[in-house]
Amino acid sequence: MTELAGCTALITGGTAGIGFATARRLADAGAAVIITGRNPQRGHQSREELGPAAKFVAVDMADQAGVERLAREHEFDILVNNAARFPAGLTVDQDESEFTHTFAANVRGLYFLVAATVPTMIRRGGGAIVNVTSMVASKGVPGASVYSASKAAVEQLTRTWAVEFGPHHIRVNNVAPGPTATAGVAAEWGETNEKLGRALPLGRTANPAEIAEAIYFLASPRASFITGTTLHVDGGGTAV
Ligand SMILES: NC(=O)c1ccc[n+]([C@@H]2O[C@H](COP(=O)([O-])OP(=O)(O)OC[C@H]3O[C@@H](n4cnc5c(N)ncnc54)[C@H](OP(=O)(O)O)[C@@H]3O)[C@@H](O)[C@H]2O)c1
Repeated sequence: MTELAGCTALITGGTAGIGFATARRLADAGAAVIITGRNPQRGHQSREELGPAAKFVAVDMADQAGVERLAREHEFDILVNNAARFPAGLTVDQDESEFTHTFAANVRGLYFLVAATVPTMIRRGGGAIVNVTSMVASKGVPGASVYSASKAAVEQLTRTWAVEFGPHHIRVNNVAPGPTATAGVAAEWGETNEKLGRALPLGRTANPAEIAEAIYFLASPRASFITGTTLHVDGGGTAV
């Protein structure tokens, strides 16, 4: 399929998990993809798996100078803000540096990447931004306080940005995944993610490709009249 032929997509955190599945889906639809991540070794390996048209850029979303450089040096029509930290920790045990670092990567980095990208998208005639949030942005889950607050902040930014950028033909939406089987979340949350999956109406965790399909839909022209919304891809989790 070549629905996205001629488009360039930047997927932050596109070297693993949901981001990598998204990069693969967008590349299959004909987009040129740029993936980012902190670990260059994993980045180059993932880029090779995506084929010769893919590009890897090493950047930490918590590094303000790196984020600005990313926007300055690359132009794209689709931006998938997927990279995030998801620390597990009860509020009473939370240390300040983890709190600050999570908001730096998940909110500040994403915010300034969008701010620096939008003028270029306007010059190119428009674009689509998909923010990957989480089911826990709208649910109370013990141990997810900082993480879920960062994702709720992003969901509100999406509503504001849909209104600010709509007149420039830039659509902004959220995909809010439920528990998804990735190596990253297994390392941080252990068995808890699988337990959360079993408690969903659909009774399981998602495969990253199932989340990627929703991101692809919102990034594509098929979603041409959709902006400012959240697509819950959570096996019914927010319906409970
Ligand atoms: N998996 C779930 O159950 C689940 C559920 C709801 C929402 N989500 C959301 O979905 C997104 C992807 O999650 P995932 O499970 O696919 O994660 P993952 O498998 O751990 O992959 C995370 C990706 O982001 C990159 N990354 C992490 N921190 C970064 C930073 N500070 N700067 C730049 N890149 C960074 C990682 O590469 P490096 O480590 O090399 O930087 C990797 O490419 C996140 O926004 C997460 O909050 C996940």
